[in-house]
Amino acid sequence: MRTIDDLGKLHGKTVLLRSDLNVPLDDAGTITDDGRVRASVPTIQRLRDAGARVVVCAHLGRPKGVPEEKYSLRPVADRLAELLGTPVLFATDTVGESANETVDRLNDGDVAVLENLRFNPGETSKDDAERGAFADQLSHLADVYVSDGFGVVHRKQASVYDIAERLPQAAGGLVETEVGVLRQLTEKPQRPYAVVLGGAKVSDKLGVIEALLTKADLLLIGGGMVFTFLAAQGHEVGKSLLEEDQVARVRGYLADAENRGVQIVLPTDVVAATGFSADADHEVVAADAIPADRMGLDIGPESAAAFAQAIGSAKTVFWNGPMGAFEMQPYAAGTQAVAQALADVTAKGATTVVGGGDSAAAVRQLGFSDDAFSHISTGGGASLEFLEGKTLPGLEVLES
Ligand code: 3PG
Ligand code: MG
Repeated sequence: MRTIDDLGKLHGKTVLLRSDLNVPLDDAGTITDDGRVRASVPTIQRLRDAGARVVVCAHLGRPKGVPEEKYSLRPVADRLAELLGTPVLFATDTVGESANETVDRLNDGDVAVLENLRFNPGETSKDDAERGAFADQLSHLADVYVSDGFGVVHRKQASVYDIAERLPQAAGGLVETEVGVLRQLTEKPQRPYAVVLGGAKVSDKLGVIEALLTKADLLLIGGGMVFTFLAAQGHEVGKSLLEEDQVARVRGYLADAENRGVQIVLPTDVVAATGFSADADHEVVAADAIPADRMGLDIGPESAAAFAQAIGSAKTVFWNGPMGAFEMQPYAAGTQAVAQALADVTAKGATTVVGGGDSAAAVRQLGFSDDAFSHISTGGGASLEFLEGKTLPGLEVLES
C-alpha cells in the first residue's frame, strides 16, 4: 500500500483527501460523537505541515443523491476548524461552482471541506460510468488523492474507489493504522483471542461469524442477535428480536464451534422488559425462561460477570456491537460491563480493539476514554468485512 511519503513533495500541491466524517448528529444538528472527526485530524495536519492545499471530501448519512439540509457537512467542517485551530473553508457543493471557487482560494497549508458527496448521485451509483463521471469531476479539483476514510473503504464508491484510478494515490495515516491493527488480528493474534459480538441483527454478522469460527478461541454473543442463538438452542424468546429464518444457520454455527473447539459464550440471564422503552416494567430472568410477553433488552448481571471473566482471560479481544439497548439506562449495564472488562484487560497488557461506529459511540457515551483500549476503529462495517476476509474495494484500489 502506498503511503503519503510515497507521494513525493506535496508543497503547493492540491490534495483531495477522502475522510470518513460520518458522525451522529442530534435533531438540533449538534454532533453527539466527534470521534471520526478527531481521528481525521492527524492526516489533515500532516498534509498541511507538508504545505499541501487540503480538500477534504466526505459523506454524512445516506441522502439519496440530492442535497438535503439535515445531511449537510457544514457543522462537521466547523468542528474540524475547532480541532485544527485554523479556519476551514466550506464549499456548498461537491464539484460545482462553489467547490471550484473554494479550491482556487486555498493557499499552501489551507483546508477546505466539500459538501456531502452523497448529494451527487454519481457517488454511490451502481453504474460504473456514472460513478466514473463523478470521479472525473472530483479529480479535476486536485493533483493527488489520499484515501483516509477507513470507515468507508468497503464501499465501491466514486470518492473511495474510482477516484484512485484517476489521480496519483496513497493511503492516509488513519487507513494505515487501521489496516495494521486489523491485520494483526487476522494474521497473528495473541491467544486466547476472544471476540465479543452484539448489535441487533445476526443476519448482518453471518460472514464474520463464519470467518471467526476458524480464527477465534472464544465467541461471546450479546445484543439483539443473541435471541436467534437462544432460539437455536431451543429456548422461547418471548417478544425479543428474533430472525426466524436464521435459526437453522445459527444452529449450524453452534455445532461447528463445538467441533472446532471454539467456545461460544451466550448469556444465562437477560433483562426482560414489557416494551422497548426505559420506563417499561423490566426484570432479570433466566435466558431459558423469557416470559412470552417480554423482550430481552440487555444481558443480565450473571452473564455480564461471566463475559467479563472470559474477556479477562484473553490476550486479544475484538468487540463489535452493544450488548443491549444501552442508550436507555436500565439496559446499559451489560455493555458497560463489557467495556469495563476490555479496559481492565487492556491495562493488563492485552490488545483490545473496539470496532465500529456504534460500539465506539457506546464506549464514549458510557464515559470511557479512547486510551482505555488499544484501538478504537472508525469503521464498523469496514472492520467486520476486513475480519471476514473480504476484499475491500477502497483498499484493493490502493494496491494497484
Ligand atoms: C459508516 O458509518 O459505517 C461509514 O461512514 C459508512 O457509511 P455507509 O454505511 O452509509 O456507507
Ligand atoms: Mg454504518
